[in-house]
Amino acid sequence: MIKSFKTIPFFCVLFFGITNCSKNIYRKNIQPDKIVSLKNNFKNNFYVGAAINENQILEKEIGSNSIIKKEFNTISPENSLKWMFIHPKPNTFNFNVADKYVDFGIKNKMHIVGHTLVWHAQLADFMNKVTERSVMMNHMQNHIKKVVTRYKGKINTWDVVNEALNEDGTLRESIFLKILGNTYIEDAFKLAEKADPNANLAYNDYNLCKPKKRKGAIRLVRQLKQNGAKVNEVGIQAHWQLNSPSIKNIEESIIAFSKLGVKVMFTELDISVLPNPWELVGAEVNQNFEKFEGDEKMNPYTTSLPETVKNKLAKRYQDIFKLFLKHEDKISRVTFWGVTDKDSWLNDWPIKGRRNYPLLFDRKNQPKKAYHSILDLKSVSK
Ligand code: XIL
Repeated sequence: MIKSFKTIPFFCVLFFGITNCSKNIYRKNIQPDKIVSLKNNFKNNFYVGAAINENQILEKEIGSNSIIKKEFNTISPENSLKWMFIHPKPNTFNFNVADKYVDFGIKNKMHIVGHTLVWHAQLADFMNKVTERSVMMNHMQNHIKKVVTRYKGKINTWDVVNEALNEDGTLRESIFLKILGNTYIEDAFKLAEKADPNANLAYNDYNLCKPKKRKGAIRLVRQLKQNGAKVNEVGIQAHWQLNSPSIKNIEESIIAFSKLGVKVMFTELDISVLPNPWELVGAEVNQNFEKFEGDEKMNPYTTSLPETVKNKLAKRYQDIFKLFLKHEDKISRVTFWGVTDKDSWLNDWPIKGRRNYPLLFDRKNQPKKAYHSILDLKSVSK
């Protein structure tokens, strides 16, 4: 007995010693805001994030999930909040995955983006069949009210309207424009504001660094504001190439949008390294290039990316982030469209079945040269 009583304090000392000691080690080595990561390095500049897919939302991708938690402080839903999935029929809503997306962001203390409320693509079929203005208005009102209210105070920024412009800056002949007329954008912003007055509201589009389309977006945002709609941010999608758009054109857009009194976001950044012979720049998801499927010339890097191209990609990302840092006062967020090259939509768009390398992490979840080229611009201690 006596012996065993003596051993208890001994084990207590040993136990508490170990736990305290391990706590100290924890404190010494893992200071979350000192870890080298994109979110930490740019924490005083802008949010850095990624679009996440359904598997990542459901935490089924151990490798990319740990990248998301370590590197990013904001998330966007790659597909899970799009109309066709959450509102497939007039009175049917399905918030299963969307709820999990928002929970994931809250759990990881992230800035949560809602993408997107009003967009002609990935829309529910029933919407494409509507011919009466009052019917479509009802559906749009119902959609915005229901979705924004559900995530009120949780989703921080909404892409209220996505891709409403043509390349020449005029309004796209979408089903919304055809049936509702040109006030639909303003109506959408006002409905979103009503449902959650504190959310940041954004207009989001591709090719906003091209002068004509940029002009159209400036006109649109100015008009929206004049008509009393709240617009906090403009999202430049940033589906870019190695050589285009030029840094000069990107800079002109940052400055021009910022002069409207809105913050600029880069919402869907990725850089394609694959041939683009049709002068296709932009990201109209409905384009069909089936005739190029299986064409080897269009898919030159089926095993790995040559060093020369890796270096070009790293330099391109570095130049872009250098510019972002120069204008950090005007930029609120930079989001990559995907986490690793494996998940990128650019493997299947605009031609299915290619092997693209547009992001900062490779197919084995390892950081690429491009990742280091960005971090090199700004270490945590600077
Ligand atoms: C893309 C997704 O990444 C794909 O998985 C989906 O098949 C099509 O849409 N502009 C946008 C994004 O605003 O929603 C698109 O995302 C890419 C272009």
